Amino acid sequence: MELDLVGKTAVVTGASRGVGLAIARQLVAEGVRVVGAARTITPELKEIGAHPVAADLSTPEGAEELGAQALAALGGVDLLVNNLGGGDDFTLNGFLATSDAQWAHSFEVNLFGTVRVTRRLLPSLLERRGSVVNVSSMSARLPGTGPIEYGAAKAALNAFGKALSEEFGPQGVRVNTVSPGPTRTGMWEDADGFGARLAEAGGVGHRDFLAGVPAAMGMSTGRMVEPAEVAAVVAFLASDRAASVTGADYVVDGGGIKTV
Ligand SMILES: NC(=O)c1ccc[n+]([C@@H]2O[C@H](COP(=O)([O-])OP(=O)(O)OC[C@H]3O[C@@H](n4cnc5c(N)ncnc54)[C@H](OP(=O)(O)O)[C@@H]3O)[C@@H](O)[C@H]2O)c1
Repeated sequence: MELDLVGKTAVVTGASRGVGLAIARQLVAEGVRVVGAARTITPELKEIGAHPVAADLSTPEGAEELGAQALAALGGVDLLVNNLGGGDDFTLNGFLATSDAQWAHSFEVNLFGTVRVTRRLLPSLLERRGSVVNVSSMSARLPGTGPIEYGAAKAALNAFGKALSEEFGPQGVRVNTVSPGPTRTGMWEDADGFGARLAEAGGVGHRDFLAGVPAAMGMSTGRMVEPAEVAAVVAFLASDRAASVTGADYVVDGGGIKTV
């Protein structure tokens, strides 16, 4: 399907690796001029031809810095992909062991960073009748499957996207959510990542643990999601091919969510 994105401009947050890098790569391949933001600028982000911006988006200053640099580099923004999220400090020990600081960090990274970047760039998106895609998680609908502070922050992100779509839809800006299930990124695969720590806590080898994730999460496809599969849905929703889709939450979870 031709997405007609050639010549558009985009900002992708959390673009240095994982799902965000796949989204930036897909958009560049569609002919989009992309600004990709993260704290660390990786060689991969530079190699795909995105304009990198280093910013800590868990702070108001970082969001402001990204907004200013993106507008200076692109002249205006057609597409905003708020992929920033996850958590460096996920707890494995349940609610009683989760501190205020961990709750606050989860909401900074999974919600407030997106709120601030969106507020900064919305005037430009309105001018260009652009579109926003927020990357949430199946944990927003199944909050018991992940750390409690993560599911709660992602559920709030879904509500944010829905409300935004209603407020700005009449002015021509669409807002949608994409909710992946377990996706093959460093979060699961890195030796010191969340997946490795879960495996250790369960007394299972990392590789065996990963092999069991699809079944444990009820994924009908029998495998984890690939980052490029999330990116394809994001690119479609960002494009005018999805002109009548707004306020929606597209789940990319291999069939893990069983309800209609
Ligand atoms: N992987 C999954 O199974 C899965 C499932 C459902 C939903 N998701 C969602 O998909 C999105 C991407 O996940 P992922 O697995 O690709 O994560 P990832 O591999 O951990 O990548 C996270 C990205 O966000 C950036 N980032 C983190 N904290 C940041 C901060 N404070 N300021 C700026 N950038 C920051 C990271 O770069 P730096 O560290 O260099 O800043 C990196 O580019 C997240 O919203 C996540 O919640 C993932």
